[in-house]
Amino acid sequence: MAKTRILLSQEEIRAKVKQLSAKVSEDYKDKNPLIICVLKGAVVFLSDFIRHLTIPVEIDFMAVSSYGHSTSTSGVVRILKDLETGIENRDIIILEDIIDSGLTLGYLRENLLSRNPRSIKIVTLLDKPERRMMDIEPDYCGFCIPDEFVVGYGLDFNEKYRNLPDLCVLLEFEK
Ligand code: IMP
Ligand code: MG
Repeated sequence: MAKTRILLSQEEIRAKVKQLSAKVSEDYKDKNPLIICVLKGAVVFLSDFIRHLTIPVEIDFMAVSSYGHSTSTSGVVRILKDLETGIENRDIIILEDIIDSGLTLGYLRENLLSRNPRSIKIVTLLDKPERRMMDIEPDYCGFCIPDEFVVGYGLDFNEKYRNLPDLCVLLEFEK
């Protein structure tokens, strides 16, 4: 097991996720939004987030990838798995684990906008605003974090560490 340092404890995350769900429930109280979870990192967040919602919602999944395994984004994005649901005239909430350069979400938002939804908003658990390369801001954000590579609570390094219950900084990289 690699050395890690806890950045956000599971208790802190739990409290914040509850707040975010309450805010979204309030803002969408007469709506029936479709939540699009961006695989794979956002699945842990999704499962906690939706259980605090007090409005009817539907969920769907998309997988997008920047090429290669690395701790920084290459800038090329492609769709690995598309939605099962049509989104025309739907209120869409994109649920992300983390916004880093913003390239992934920038691409995703443009792609979804071309399908004529009624609205699109972005919920992210984490934001690294220092690293932004695109003009994209979340509508709801859990935590702004410094420019450090984090794992746990769904986030990975080379597909590992998603199962850690806390959000941790990786102090040494190993396979
Ligand atoms: P962006 O396109 O640069 O905004 O990258 C977003 C994606 O990169 C996220 O959905 C994550 O999968 C991944 N990512 C960015 N920063 C981190 C990190 O610190 N830990 C784990 N994954 C990250
Ligand atoms: Mg990832």
